[in-house]
Parts: sequence; structure tokens; C-alpha cells
Amino acid sequence: MLIHLHTYGCQMNQYDSELVKSLLSTADPEWTSDPEQADVILVNTCCVRDHAEQRALGRLRQLVHLKKFRPWVRVGILGCIAQARKGELFDQIPGLDWVIGPDGYRELPQLLAGSGSAPGVLHSDAGESYDDVIPTQLAGPTAFVAVMRGCDNYCSYCVVPQVRGRERSRPLASIVKEAEGLSSAGVREITLLGQNVNSYRDGDHDFSDVLRRVGAVSGIERVRFTTSHPKDLSTRLVQVMSEVPQVCPCLHLPAQSGSDRILHLMNRQYTRSRYLEKIAMVRKYVPHVAITTDILVGFPTETDQDFQATMGLLEEVRFHGVFSFRYSVRAGTTAAAMPDDVPESVKIARLETVIERQRAITRELHDARVGDSELILVEAPAKKGDGHLMGRTPHDEVVVFPGNGANIGDFCEVKIMEVRGFTLAGELLHIRESNSLQRVSSPSSHLRCCM
Ligand code: 5AD
Ligand code: SF4
Repeated sequence: MLIHLHTYGCQMNQYDSELVKSLLSTADPEWTSDPEQADVILVNTCCVRDHAEQRALGRLRQLVHLKKFRPWVRVGILGCIAQARKGELFDQIPGLDWVIGPDGYRELPQLLAGSGSAPGVLHSDAGESYDDVIPTQLAGPTAFVAVMRGCDNYCSYCVVPQVRGRERSRPLASIVKEAEGLSSAGVREITLLGQNVNSYRDGDHDFSDVLRRVGAVSGIERVRFTTSHPKDLSTRLVQVMSEVPQVCPCLHLPAQSGSDRILHLMNRQYTRSRYLEKIAMVRKYVPHVAITTDILVGFPTETDQDFQATMGLLEEVRFHGVFSFRYSVRAGTTAAAMPDDVPESVKIARLETVIERQRAITRELHDARVGDSELILVEAPAKKGDGHLMGRTPHDEVVVFPGNGANIGDFCEVKIMEVRGFTLAGELLHIRESNSLQRVSSPSSHLRCCM
């Protein structure tokens, strides 16, 4: 059976798509990147913003048309839209066969086995955490590992708690087992995923224990994590960041707004000054930390004054990077009952103001890196070709440099020569070969890289 699986959305969705591939391995599938060749088409979707939802639904409408020429083809929608809209999707996308929410993937093999059966919605099991399922591994030196699923925070604009369900943590032992398997397969860097990793719990273990244990897995030389909620970011966690050399000096700490009034309406449960205290705490323990954030503009009732408070926050913190979004109403959230009263033109103008100012700040921070030597984990050939390679610094900055014999998975010392847009361009100084499977027990496997 030839299956095409397309993924929209966040890192958790990418990870879930690998879970789906693993669950379907019993069906002995072949995977194709070409939907026109496929017998089964699956689209893993995101509905955190209206734009993401419309894009995925538009793509699905195109894909079901393929059934006109190949009537045996089956099309399924996975992920957050499936969970949010359930059966109504059959009316919205005539020809759709299956609707499967994020907690229903275990039933996929049976569904595919009876692929002639009637359209179906797979109901979610709210306790599902796929503990025992090891996702297929994408080839490469970096990988994601989910530590928890769901979210209990109910930020007023956000649909995630409804579509991803209540928060539940994976047992620490199963996370470590997955990390060990990845290391054996040649992975050197793991990004731990959860909607709010700070509320991870497994008995007496909290997220700082996860960082320590994954950092101690032989061959895993870099550990990143996302996302932290500012209200729950603890000193204990930040201390671990400073103590465990494998944990990269990066923190994604979504602020959303710099206005106390808007933060309150968003149900974020911190104030601007509390947020700034957390930033100061992180910088005390991890002085050169690269902090990134999410900013949401155009939330109901946001005034110019509120927006200026957000711009002031960007100046005060000087984030390494900002992911900025225009508010869109999500059905079923608390904010959906508030008037969506900021005109679209104002939302767009505010978004552009954030992007423009942040671009300049990131540029200044990057300019200051020129002349530095950095340890890069090589991830892929660079788009520019010519034997150039692409990798990241411990601070998650993208660096491109002429490969000169280095390979994917190697750690390379690179001198930063120039800033090109959001990318740093460098020169290779030294190659430290990756610890491939065969060399796991060599002394180099204990070298540390995230200083
Ligand atoms: N509209 C726009 N952006 C949103 N986000 C979450 N919900 C919405 C919404 N309704 C943004 C937040 C969050 C990021 C993942 O997506 O900034 O941190
Ligand atoms: Fe959504 Fe808030 Fe949970 Fe993040 S913390 S997933 S914004 S509800």
C-alpha cells in the first residue's frame, strides 16, 4: 500500500506524524511524497490559527479530487482540525473518508486494513500518551521527543486544550528509552517537546530530571526543549540549564503581550513585571542565553497603548527571535465571546511593526557574533549548494559554511564571518567527527559541546 502523509503545523505535529508512521509499520506500507501515486492520503493538520486551518482544508479539498481518477484512493484528516471539527468535516470536504484526532492514531492500522469501509470518525482516548510507541526516525542527527501531551492552561485565545486534551506526562523511563534508541541510530541532538514542559510530572520527577537524564544518555550531546510557560518557569529548571552542559543555552518563553491588561484578558497568569523577573532570573544563571518568544497582536480590545507596551517589551528584553501572530478567533475559546474589534488592517500594521523592529534587533545580536568561533552540529547540505553545509550553534542560530570534507552529523568549529539575513555565514576551522554507532564507546563520545 502506497501512503502519502503530509504534515502541517508545529513540531508536535511533526513528531506525531512519525508516531503515525510507526503505528502503520505493521501494515507494511510504502511511503510516497507524491499524493498522485498514493492509495492512501493522510493530512496531519493544525488549527491554532485560522490561516493554518484554511490552508489545510484547501489542500484537502484538492486532494479528494484525485479520487475522480483513482476511485480506490482513501483520504483521511488527522490532527487538531480533525479533533475540533469531527463529523462536520464530511460535509465541508465531500469525498473525505476518515477523521482521526490526535489521540486516535492507534486505530489507524485497522482502519486502513478495511479501507473499503464507510467513512469514520475515530474517537479520542483522553488518556492516550503513546508511551510504548517509538516514532519512526527521520534520517539525521537531530530528533524530537515528546515528554507530555495536551495543555491545562486555557489561555483565552487558544484552542489547544480543547483539541489536544488534558495535560499528561510520559513516564521518564520511556523518554530515556526513546533517547537511547535515537542515540544508537546516530542522533546527537534531541528537542524535548510539550505544550508546557514546566508542568511535567512523573511521581517525584519534574522536567529538570528529564533534562538531566536525557543529557546523560551516551551520544546525546545537545538537548533543547520547548515550550515553557512563563508562570511555571522555575529556578530549579534554569539551574539545571546552567549545570548540565548538554542542555543548550536557549529558552523559548512566549510573552504574547507586554500589556498587563491584555495579559489578564488572555488568562496568562503573569504580569509584565513578573515576566521580566523571569527573564532576569534566567540571565543570572545562564548569562549568554538566547531567549525567543511568541507575540500575539490584535487580541480583542488591544489599544495602541497596549501595543506600545508590547513594543517596549521587545526593547527591554531584546529577544534573539520573535514568532509573531495576528489574533484570529477560535471557536470554543473564552476569547471567542469577546468582540474581535481590532480591524484587520490594524492587526496587519502591528504585526509588520513587530517584525520590522525585531528583524533589526536580531540583526544587531547576529552582527555581534562576527569573529566568534562556534561549534556547529551539521544538519544538512545548505540550500545554496556548492558543497556548503548548514547547521546550528548551541544558541540555535543557523550557520552556513563551505563543507571541506565535513559530513552531516559532524560537529564543526566554525568562525562566523558575516551575517546574511537571518543566517550566519562562516568558515570551517576544525572538524570533530560525529560519534557514529561504531564509535559510541570511543572517548570522543564524552566530549561536551554546549558550553
Ligand atoms: N490567533 C493567533 N495566534 C494564536 N496563537 C495561539 N492561538 C492563537 C490565535 N487564536 C499563537 C500564540 C502561541 C502560538 C503557538 O500561536 O502566540 O504561542
Ligand atoms: Fe495554548 Fe496557552 Fe496551552 Fe500554550 S499554554 S498551548 S497558548 S493554552
